[in-house]
Amino acid sequence: MSHQITIKPSGHRYTAQDDETILEAALRDGFALPYGCRNGACGTCKGKVLEGSVDYGTYQDSALSETEKLAGMALFCCARPQSDLIIECREIGAAKDIQIKAMPCRVDRMERLAPDVMALYLKLPANERLQFLAGQYLDVLMKDGKRRSFSIANAPHDDELLLLHIRNIPGGTFTEHVFTKMQEKEILRFEGPLGTFFLREDGTRPILFVAGGTGFAPIKGMLEHAFHLGLQRQMSLYWGARSLKDLYMPELPRKWQEEHPNFSFVPVLSEPRPEDRWQGRTGLVHQAVLQDVADLSGYQVYASGSPLMVEAAHKNFLERGLPETEFFSDAFLFSNDPRPAA
Ligand SMILES: Cc1cc2nc3c(=O)[nH]c(=O)nc-3n(C[C@H](O)[C@H](O)[C@H](O)COP(=O)(O)OP(=O)(O)OC[C@H]3O[C@@H](n4cnc5c(N)ncnc54)[C@H](O)[C@@H]3O)c2cc1C
Ligand code: FES
Repeated sequence: MSHQITIKPSGHRYTAQDDETILEAALRDGFALPYGCRNGACGTCKGKVLEGSVDYGTYQDSALSETEKLAGMALFCCARPQSDLIIECREIGAAKDIQIKAMPCRVDRMERLAPDVMALYLKLPANERLQFLAGQYLDVLMKDGKRRSFSIANAPHDDELLLLHIRNIPGGTFTEHVFTKMQEKEILRFEGPLGTFFLREDGTRPILFVAGGTGFAPIKGMLEHAFHLGLQRQMSLYWGARSLKDLYMPELPRKWQEEHPNFSFVPVLSEPRPEDRWQGRTGLVHQAVLQDVADLSGYQVYASGSPLMVEAAHKNFLERGLPETEFFSDAFLFSNDPRPAA
């Protein structure tokens, strides 16, 4: 049986089945209620049931006291609806609403996507989940106290493992370790989620995603999130790489293009090799956008990858009428570069 749930104060409404938790159903419908462990241990998902009845589920007493329960509170990661409900809780609308945590993780799986790109699948400790917005990044905390930033390549609804796409920097302390010494089951520490490069879900503007190399990682997370929400806006991905081998998973955006009529994919190679037999677009990725779209004033842009590409896109797109407020970016600065404040 299904129940209607109304969230106060936003007035958002969604439907939950008897066997779904209040949180599960909200996330499925694209409403970002806060959560941590998703397991009744941390209390982050606590909210008030203003009307209706729930089955509280199994949780730890430390996360929800008897007094809180008597006052109408419940843990939305464990509680299931038994009637229509009106609940009161805050919703995550911006990066500042999410708690930044430092936590350990285990390298669950490594997969070589290209000669110099590795996918790292990270598993969090039992009873822990990381809430994040599609497109944010995390900082790997190294033993010497230094940090290395990597974007989260999976979407928030698919958060059992965190996925990173790591490009090998010859001589790079962390990335070379990944390619030469790292073994599955290695323990890392990280801090996250970080940054303000996340998909703005409201609005109707068509979206241009511009990725250079592993700049595809956060954009993959954003697009998977957009498809999950059923966003109907027109979305185009321009993905630039040097040669065909650097375009490390082109079959994925090609599949999205077949499945979603509102999505198109334009791969762009800057230095195709003869053996690539490349018939597609060539040149710089942001130039390909400028060739295709004369007037950018009605668009929203998300750009990520090398600082040079992001800077050039920013400058040239604004000259073509893109409002400053509609340009979002993550420049893949090195850890010794100065970082703009998030
Ligand atoms: C917000 C953010 C998100 C990022 N997301 C990703 C991501 O998803 N995937 C990814 O592969 N990278 C990403 N990066 C870039 C990544 O953080 C760096 O490449 C990484 O820190 C390099 O670490 P290292 O220890 O291997 O190299 P270091 O030991 O820090 O550097 C060794 C040498 O290589 C140079 N160098 C370092 N990084 C780069 C680089 N990117 N390009 C060229 N030369 C470099 C340094 O100047 C230095 O001379 C991101 C960066 C930022 C700021
Ligand atoms: S998310 Fe931790 S108790 Fe619900």
